[in-house]
Amino acid sequence: MRVLLLGANGQVGFELQGLLAPFAHVDARSRSDLDISDSGRLREVFKTVSPDLVVNAAAYTNVDQAEREPELAEAINAGAVRVVADECRSRKIALVHYSTDFVFDGDASAAYCEDDAANPISVYGHSKLNGESIVADGALSLVVLRTAWVYSLRRKSFVSTMLRLMASQDVVKVVDDQVGNPTSAFDLAFATALIVFESRRDPYRWFLERRGVYHLAGDGSCSRFEFAKAILELAPGPLKARAVEPISTDAYPLPARRPKYAPLDCAKAKATFGVTLPPWRQSLARALGTLA
Ligand SMILES: NC(=O)c1ccc[n+]([C@@H]2O[C@H](COP(=O)([O-])OP(=O)(O)OC[C@H]3O[C@@H](n4cnc5c(N)ncnc54)[C@H](OP(=O)(O)O)[C@@H]3O)[C@@H](O)[C@H]2O)c1
Repeated sequence: MRVLLLGANGQVGFELQGLLAPFAHVDARSRSDLDISDSGRLREVFKTVSPDLVVNAAAYTNVDQAEREPELAEAINAGAVRVVADECRSRKIALVHYSTDFVFDGDASAAYCEDDAANPISVYGHSKLNGESIVADGALSLVVLRTAWVYSLRRKSFVSTMLRLMASQDVVKVVDDQVGNPTSAFDLAFATALIVFESRRDPYRWFLERRGVYHLAGDGSCSRFEFAKAILELAPGPLKARAVEPISTDAYPLPARRPKYAPLDCAKAKATFGVTLPPWRQSLARALGTLA
């Protein structure tokens, strides 16, 4: 099978390149090869590559910067997604697309299910929800995988930022009133590859029969503070930091609002695809190279 992978240099895209390669011919495009907001170039690539399946791991993901660049965030996270969807529909190509817990407002008291009402509170969240509007197109062979708190050590992420701060500060202050699912980019890419592998005989039909939105994130949830504490405990070191201190979001204002409580219930993905991600702490230890 031939896969067109968009966003190949991102946290998830990079891992997907290696994980799809054993069973698919992967045409991997990073932003320097293909700017997906250039619709003419994007359509041209569909013509030349002629994929059986597209995985769209490209996105505008700088949540705070998006508040200052709403048009660009919208162009990449929604406009380009509609072009991808349009090409997939007309050429009968299956599509795997990623979305985010930031489509929710975070005022819930239990983990969010796929059908819970979305109500984004940031420009990024709005743009990603607009990108999800392709789900309404019943002719698309499409799954949208909503994930959360994705990290890798390769790029800027919560984990790499914490390690940097912990290398230079005695005490690192982290918000304790935001709760979500830490998700290893590798685990998410691996689960995606398993799903794509299952579809390999007839991806268009396979995804058409299972089309819709699915939550797929690290198993279990925690606050940012608990996540940071686990990083300090599990990092191989040596680190300067001796402690992580909890603070409130109000004490650490950022341009974009974040959902306070937005764990994702991933039961639907488990029931449909037989796939779950490992417990978040186990994945973190593996990512940090300290899993015995
Ligand atoms: N990161 C998270 O915490 C998180 C949480 C929930 C959902 N998600 C979703 O999960 C998916 C994968 O995220 P990720 O963490 O892998 O993000 P990432 O590391 O920021 O990767 C996104 C990739 O998209 C590329 N990109 C940006 N604009 C582009 C454009 N105009 N044309 C082509 N490529 C472009 C980036 O290029 P550069 O390499 O040049 O930057 C980057 O390689 C995204 O849909 C994201 O919204 C992420």
